[in-house]
Amino acid sequence: MTEIGILEIGQATEADLEGILDLQAANQAGKGGRLSVSLPRSHIAAMMNGMPLIVARRRGRVIGFLMTSTRAMNADIPVIRAMLAAHPYQDDAYVYGPICVDVDERGQGIAQAMFTELRRLQPGREGVLFIRRDNSASLRAHAKMEMREVASFAFKGMDHAVFSYVG
Ligand SMILES: CC(C)(COP(=O)(O)OP(=O)(O)OC[C@H]1O[C@@H](n2cnc3c(N)ncnc32)[C@H](O)[C@@H]1OP(=O)(O)O)[C@@H](O)C(=O)NCCC(=O)NCCS
Repeated sequence: MTEIGILEIGQATEADLEGILDLQAANQAGKGGRLSVSLPRSHIAAMMNGMPLIVARRRGRVIGFLMTSTRAMNADIPVIRAMLAAHPYQDDAYVYGPICVDVDERGQGIAQAMFTELRRLQPGREGVLFIRRDNSASLRAHAKMEMREVASFAFKGMDHAVFSYVG
């Protein structure tokens, strides 16, 4: 667990699930947010047991999450399938995302700090993610993390960029 002031960055536990679900719900595309996928609690719990789920907490409240999964775990999600078809990933590659930071906490490097923690936990492995081309905040935040754009694909009429990094 790393502490930046009163901000904690570390791996999620069962106790964080409610806060993760709240943050996910508040950021759905249908509500003007930028998350394109809404994962049920049971699925998030399963992902958390298989791969790191990083959270940022302020005074115990979840104000950011960064989920990761094995490729197999989310192979049934159409946009993930489209991403993986667009990029010749390495054998041990995993899927990065979704990532979300509370709207009142953005622009302070919290996404960057969660990514640093993830890399510490998964050294040497390739991570692959997609970002919708109209999500300029996310494109900039991830370019700043020194991820590489490696491919593009269209999904539901929208252009998406594929980014990759090695931890
Ligand atoms: C994308 C997201 C996770 C970034 O989180 P964050 O903690 O604000 O990001 P960081 O503070 O680590 O990164 C800061 C960089 O991101 C970029 N950035 C952040 N907010 C931005 C905004 N509103 N507009 C443009 N660029 C922005 C900037 O380049 C910034 O660096 P700078 O301030 O030095 O210029 C956050 O905006 C978010 O949760 N968005 C809604 C959900 C989402 O889009 N998830 C990603 C789907 S692919």
